[in-house]
Amino acid sequence: MESEAIRVIKTRRSVRKFKTDPIDEAIIRDVVDCGRLAATGRNDQPWEFVVVRDASMRGRIADLTECGKFIRVAPVCIAVMCRNTKYFLEDGSAAIQNMLVAAGAHSIGTCWVAGDKKPYAPQIAALLGAPEGIRLIGLIAMGYAAEPPQMPSKRSLEEVLHWERL
Ligand SMILES: Cc1cc2nc3c(=O)[nH]c(=O)nc-3n(C[C@H](O)[C@H](O)[C@H](O)COP(=O)(O)O)c2cc1C
Repeated sequence: MESEAIRVIKTRRSVRKFKTDPIDEAIIRDVVDCGRLAATGRNDQPWEFVVVRDASMRGRIADLTECGKFIRVAPVCIAVMCRNTKYFLEDGSAAIQNMLVAAGAHSIGTCWVAGDKKPYAPQIAALLGAPEGIRLIGLIAMGYAAEPPQMPSKRSLEEVLHWERL
């Protein structure tokens, strides 16, 4: 029998059309809790998680992104920021993926919006009060889906799985 965790991982898809209904604070806390439990290189845990519910702040963040305008509509945006450690990008990304799955387990839709590598990343980090040296790794738009997400095709298991060598 397939576990709930595996079901959520296999059915998760990015949601970009959101209802404006709020999300319970307990659920938001649980999602961030799952983020902070992710694996990190050397157990550095270099992250900070900023939950943005304020509509005007979400609007300002949305305006700064290139492909995250729906952050204006989604009731919650979580910014994942990291200190500049050796594995900050891997660590922050692991936390984000955990949170996408955790939100899915609560029937909440998400979309990962790029942070690090984008020219707007330092501006959003500063807007959210980050001191020098704290980088924006990514943003998560979170909310109840207004319509079923698109189902982009995935490379098949047969294509990507290799035993012993490529
Ligand atoms: C590092 C990273 C950055 C992403 N940035 C954006 C983004 O800025 N805007 C967006 O709409 N989706 C973004 N996505 C979501 C991807 O487009 C999406 O995961 C991909 O198309 C696969 O679709 P799925 O999430 O439904 O499986 C990002 C995903 C990752 C992992």
